[in-house]
Amino acid sequence: MALGSSPAGASRTLSPHARGRDRLIFALDVGTLDAARELVRRVGGEVGMLKVGLELFVGYGRESTDLVHEHGLELFLDLKLHDIPETVSRAVRMAAQLGARYLTVHASGGRAMLREAAARAAEARAGGGKLEVVAVTVLTSLDTVDLASQGIARDPASHAVALARMAWEEGVRAFVCSPGEAAALREQLGPTAVLITPGIRPAGSAVDDQKRVSTPTGAVQAGADCIVVGRPIRDAHDPAEMARSLAAELDAALEARS
Ligand code: C5P
Repeated sequence: MALGSSPAGASRTLSPHARGRDRLIFALDVGTLDAARELVRRVGGEVGMLKVGLELFVGYGRESTDLVHEHGLELFLDLKLHDIPETVSRAVRMAAQLGARYLTVHASGGRAMLREAAARAAEARAGGGKLEVVAVTVLTSLDTVDLASQGIARDPASHAVALARMAWEEGVRAFVCSPGEAAALREQLGPTAVLITPGIRPAGSAVDDQKRVSTPTGAVQAGADCIVVGRPIRDAHDPAEMARSLAAELDAALEARS
C-alpha cells in the first residue's frame, strides 16, 4: 500500500511542471575551488541545482556552498550524515544556515536520527527557510554481495524500499535511490515523494564504480523526479553541451510520461 496518502507535514518542493534542466543536479566532484568555479562557469546555466559533496565541503566548507549561491543556483548539500540523533540534529540546523535546499542523510542511521533530521528541517522551513532532508537509501555503488557482507540478507531494491518506508514514517519526504528502485519506491510512497536518482549514464558511456545505472530516460520512466550527474558532465569534452543533452533527454522523457 502506498504511504503517500498520509502526508504528515509533507512538503513537495519540486513543481510537477519543472523542466528537464531544473531536474538536473550536477555533482561538483572536484578537489579545488578553482576547478569548481570553472565548472560552474561552464555548466551553471544548464542545470537546476549544484551538488556540493564530501570532497569540496571537507576541503573548503562554507566557501564551497557560497560559490553555488553566488551563481544564483540551488544548493544540494550531499554530506550523507550518519551519526547519533543529537549530532545530526545540530548539523541539520547548520545546513539550514548555509542556505541548502536539500541535505542528505543515510536512511540507515535509524528512526530517531531520521525523525530529528526531518523535524529540524521542518523547523527551518517554518522559519522561512527551504531545507528538505533527503534520505539516501542504498548507495548505487553497492550490490547484493556488498549488502550480504554487511549482514543484510536483502537485495538492494527490497532494502531500499524498507529504508525509504522507515524514513517516510519519520517525516522524510525526499529520497535518493538507484533508477532501478525508483518504480518500487514510487509505488510504496505515492506521488508526493521526491525521488532523486544518481547512477545516471548516457547510453553507451562508462559506468565507473556505479553498479546500478540507467539513462536519464530510464530514470524518468521509473518515476524519478530529479537526476544527479557527476562524471559524465565533469569529464565530457564539452560539459555544457553534455548537460544540455541530458536536460533535453529528460524533457523528452517527461513529455512521454505525461
Ligand atoms: O560521477 P557520478 O555521476 O557517478 O556521480 C554520482 C554522484 O552522486 C556522486 O557525487 C555520488 O556521491 C552521488 N551519489 C551516488 N549514489 C548515491 C548517493 C549519491 O552516486 N546513492
